[in-house]
Amino acid sequence: MNYIASNAEETKAFGEEFGKTLKNGDIVCLTGDLGAGKTTFTKGIAKALECIFEPVSPTFNIVNEYPGRIPVYHFDLYRLKTLEDLYSIDIDSYLFSNGICVIEWPEIAYPLLEKYKLVNIKYDGEGRVIEISEVENENSCN
Ligand SMILES: Nc1ncnc2c1ncn2[C@@H]1O[C@H](COP(=O)(O)OP(=O)(O)O)[C@@H](O)[C@H]1O
Ligand SMILES: [Mg+2]
Repeated sequence: MNYIASNAEETKAFGEEFGKTLKNGDIVCLTGDLGAGKTTFTKGIAKALECIFEPVSPTFNIVNEYPGRIPVYHFDLYRLKTLEDLYSIDIDSYLFSNGICVIEWPEIAYPLLEKYKLVNIKYDGEGRVIEISEVENENSCN
């Protein structure tokens, strides 16, 4: 699936539409450069899941939790370098809990993910191209 969002409101609206399709246990990986709109898209996901707070960038906390119809765990793994760093935040307890994990800068976690939805956001002038696909990883260690 491909969308073109010409402003932040549209990116959030696409996030909300996508969020309505999510189920408990789903994992969403968000890729794209700094400022591409990953956190903006996450705001839409959280809206669809009726989270009571609007997500903010989790950069300094690594993970923020948003209670909702389905809880959302919003990660920013930018500062983490190794799988050990991931285990130190007890990532499995989120991946296998009730809720939906939304992960910015997810590359370090790929070896742990068996299946995820990938949302890639690319700059396109003033707008953004949002590509959504499903990824299965036969070599995951989970
Ligand atoms: N089409 C667009 N989609 C998303 N964000 C946009 C768009 N156009 C401009 N922006 C702006 O770009 C910034 C994106 O920030 P953010 O969502 O935090 O990005 P990221 O999490 O990828 O670093 C916001 O300030 C937003 O208002
Ligand atoms: Mg962000």
